Amino acid sequence: MNAPLPAEVLKQHVIDPEICIRCNTCEETCPIDAITHDANNYVVDPDICNGCMACVPPCPTGAIDNWRLVARAEAHSVHDQLGWEELPQEQAPPVAAGAEAAVAEPAAPQPAAAAPGAAVPPWSAAHPYVNLYTHKTPMTATVVGNYRVTGTDTDSDIHHIVLDFGELPFPVLEGQSIGILPPGLDAQGRPHHARQYSLASPRDGERAGYNNLSLTVKRVTEDHAGAAAHGVCSNYLCDLVKNDKVQVIGPFGHTFLMPNHPGANLIMICTGTGSAPMRAMTERCRRRIESGENGKLMLFFGARTERELPYFGPLMKLPPDFIDINLALSREAGQPKRYVQDLIRDRAAKVLELLADRNTCIYVCGLKGMETGVLDALRDVTVQSGQDWSILHDALRREGRLHFETY
Ligand code: A2P
Repeated sequence: MNAPLPAEVLKQHVIDPEICIRCNTCEETCPIDAITHDANNYVVDPDICNGCMACVPPCPTGAIDNWRLVARAEAHSVHDQLGWEELPQEQAPPVAAGAEAAVAEPAAPQPAAAAPGAAVPPWSAAHPYVNLYTHKTPMTATVVGNYRVTGTDTDSDIHHIVLDFGELPFPVLEGQSIGILPPGLDAQGRPHHARQYSLASPRDGERAGYNNLSLTVKRVTEDHAGAAAHGVCSNYLCDLVKNDKVQVIGPFGHTFLMPNHPGANLIMICTGTGSAPMRAMTERCRRRIESGENGKLMLFFGARTERELPYFGPLMKLPPDFIDINLALSREAGQPKRYVQDLIRDRAAKVLELLADRNTCIYVCGLKGMETGVLDALRDVTVQSGQDWSILHDALRREGRLHFETY
């Protein structure tokens, strides 16, 4: 008669601040704006989150996939989560003795409709290692190279930085990223958070057979609005010299991975330093050019001018029958302004031919703003050929054949 009422228990979605690399992917992916952040942490608002899971697959580290059973009235507030240095201990479910918990499961999961790209890798992708080294257990790499890969007379100071891991394992795949821990403290007196960079080298090393990798890093001297801003990690990296030591965590990423089966085609679309994973994939294919395993490679690469396009020289040396290169230059004197999406439309026939082949995977990396432009261009070329873009788009996502990495 006097049995206690069931406690209402919430399966609260929380983010592990020790693993999170503050890449903003979850906040961008959340379809209902339940995720927010400050200079310290990314956090989930328990009053908004419905557990749709849209943010879980895109998270490169898995930090997002954490849950705590709490009494709903005692849910961890946004304010509390912003102050966390680590996740609170798991508690036993807050249920009165003898009572059955009414666990408030989040609302019915929604498909990740908001995400433009796939949440799964292509079927033949190699299996990636992730999180081998964390904030608590970083690995020390040695700088073995640091070269500028843009014209010295331009404002785009982009560097190719090679890190060596010596005898320690750091297995990676093209399309994965690593985190760099810049030295020093932030404005709150805490160690800086890791900054994420995509690999520019293939799985077998910047130099084949060596235990090293490369990054493409743009020195940040202004923010998105053009106001002066000093990028803590990019300036640190661009100023490194040979034999300097760097704290590295990762690797990260389990979906933006290239197909591994013979005959797979790649459509690669990038701007600026978004070229890093495209260089990694292209170099993987170039090294096996004699094997006959490669399908077709098509590259759309956007930059202000040729001299601001990273790796312009080496790119132009690649054989045209190996890769179909399309450069979209937006500020080249005497030329009309071109964006990658313009060239996708110009090359509609070849793009359609590749899209019609289920061995084709599409990779988009670079400025956030190009995401919509590229999707619109892909939709336009598809629709103009009489096909239904929504059906094709769904198939590309379901089959892990369309991937975005934008910032
Ligand atoms: P823009 O000259 O209009 O800035 P950045 O050098 O800033 O990294 O940019 C790389 C290239 O991407 C530049 O050519 C830039 O053109 C272009 N770009 C800027 N916004 C977009 C967008 N929304 N879609 C595609 N390309 C873009």
